[in-house]
Amino acid sequence: MFRLFARGRQAKRVLQPQARPLQPAPRMAARQRASSSAASVEQLSQPEPWPRDVGILALEVYFPSRYVEQAELERYDGVEAGKYTLGLGQKQMGFCAAHEDINSLCLTVAQRLVERSRLSWDAIGRLEVGTETIIDKSKAVKTVLMQLFQASGNTDVEGIDTTNACYGGTASLFNSAAWVESSAWDGRYAMVVCGDIAVYATGNARPTGGAGAVAMLVGPNAPLALERGVRGTHMEHAYDFYKPDLASEYPVVDGKLSIQCYLRALDQCYAVYRRKIQRQWQNVGVDKPFTLDDFQFLVFHTPFCKLVQKSVGRVLLNDFLAAPSPDTQHGLYQGLQAFRGLKLEDTYSDKEVEKAFQKASLEMFNQKTKPSLLLAARNGNMYTPSVYGCLASLLAQHSAQQLAGSRIGAFSYGSGLAASLFSLRVSQDAAPGSPLDTLVSSLSDLQTRLDARKRVPPEEFAGIMKQREESHHLVNHTPAGSREDLFPGTWYLEQVDDKHRRQYARRPL
Ligand code: ACO
Repeated sequence: MFRLFARGRQAKRVLQPQARPLQPAPRMAARQRASSSAASVEQLSQPEPWPRDVGILALEVYFPSRYVEQAELERYDGVEAGKYTLGLGQKQMGFCAAHEDINSLCLTVAQRLVERSRLSWDAIGRLEVGTETIIDKSKAVKTVLMQLFQASGNTDVEGIDTTNACYGGTASLFNSAAWVESSAWDGRYAMVVCGDIAVYATGNARPTGGAGAVAMLVGPNAPLALERGVRGTHMEHAYDFYKPDLASEYPVVDGKLSIQCYLRALDQCYAVYRRKIQRQWQNVGVDKPFTLDDFQFLVFHTPFCKLVQKSVGRVLLNDFLAAPSPDTQHGLYQGLQAFRGLKLEDTYSDKEVEKAFQKASLEMFNQKTKPSLLLAARNGNMYTPSVYGCLASLLAQHSAQQLAGSRIGAFSYGSGLAASLFSLRVSQDAAPGSPLDTLVSSLSDLQTRLDARKRVPPEEFAGIMKQREESHHLVNHTPAGSREDLFPGTWYLEQVDDKHRRQYARRPL
């Protein structure tokens, strides 16, 4: 629930519980008035202030109502007990039946964000979708979501879909923030929707699947502001995971290579991020190295939780190798002397290094990152929404007071490959009813919602995967799946006609 108000020249927008539905922002209203008055022409030509603290104002998560236990999946797949649960760090995996597709997932999460926030659809001036779940080579998911705007009459909504594996959501977030900071901004909010159905063919990648969607409201004066000028990005050409077969939902994946690419991208992004933020610090007279400790929290794209635990160790390894003379007799780096002088690029498959730095960073992992893995451990890899599901999990498990003033690092990785490390600065104001408090409270039911899902035996899960394979791209078709199992308010695919046109319906709230 949102409230707008103006303070001085600059429009301020604050999320408030139990407030009136959102009105057009003061800045836009000023422009509309200006067009009808000669005196206002001068007002229009004056430079307006750069919006402050552009970032995430509200966040909504959708995950499927059914899951399979990873321990049961181990038995069903005939692998050693502990491989998926301890080895990969996964507890459960959410999945969709054939009557959920990428459009229905995104419809559900977008509508949920607007309804729960008491937003009006015409308060949104940009909508971006990040996804790699392609069911149409031309028509964007974004255009399907425009059905939600229909009753409001708002068609003035920029933005379309962005695709590159699990990175599309981050590209959409960056685009949306850039729009708010640009000359094209009309004073309204941007919405970012990212969603995917992460399914693999039978085999060792299947337990690293999942499904879900996240919607984020982007605007100025946000409780989670994107820190400016410090993003570290790494992009290169790799065939680690890709989807060349457009007739199948399944990717072609080189699992080991994808892990190496992920860790290499993390090294590269961290080096760039560190360099940029240190330069900013030097400009204000602070001369010290940036280290893992400067992130109060750190969230990652999470293909499986164990990789994230290793990644925190990897960041510590970066700090250790960059430090001119780390103390290996005491403290954090105690006993790590043998690893001095290593080259990062020689260590990607070095288990000894991995274990040593995982152990050294354990406490930091527990404090900064482990709470962010709630959804990833219980729902699996959601692809584009994964890192934002981690952000939601982190917020859901801390109070506004615990988060206030902190820096949250976020590493986003999409195979192929595109990766960025960026950071969010949490607002200082954690008072009851503050935007931060409202955001955090809105996610407090995450655990309860996860508990409310239905457990399905692996045999049934495998049967549903088969059903999805067989119905993928069928025409004149009503997909199978029980509507009663869906959470209230969930959109589902009702029918595909002879021209591949899809029709959706919503389970009543
Ligand atoms: N008890 C405890 N641990 C076990 C057991 C057991 N009984 N058996 C195996 N393990 C451990 C292994 O030692 C290994 O841990 P380690 O890497 O720390 O040594 C872990 O379980 C996994 O076992 P592997 O044999 O390495 O697994 P496998 O190679 O069969 O598959 C993989 C893992 C490659 C991740 C696969 O699931 C996959 O391809 N997934 C999709 C790709 C992916 O997610 N890539 C990540 C980035 S790209 C993206 O996000 C899509």
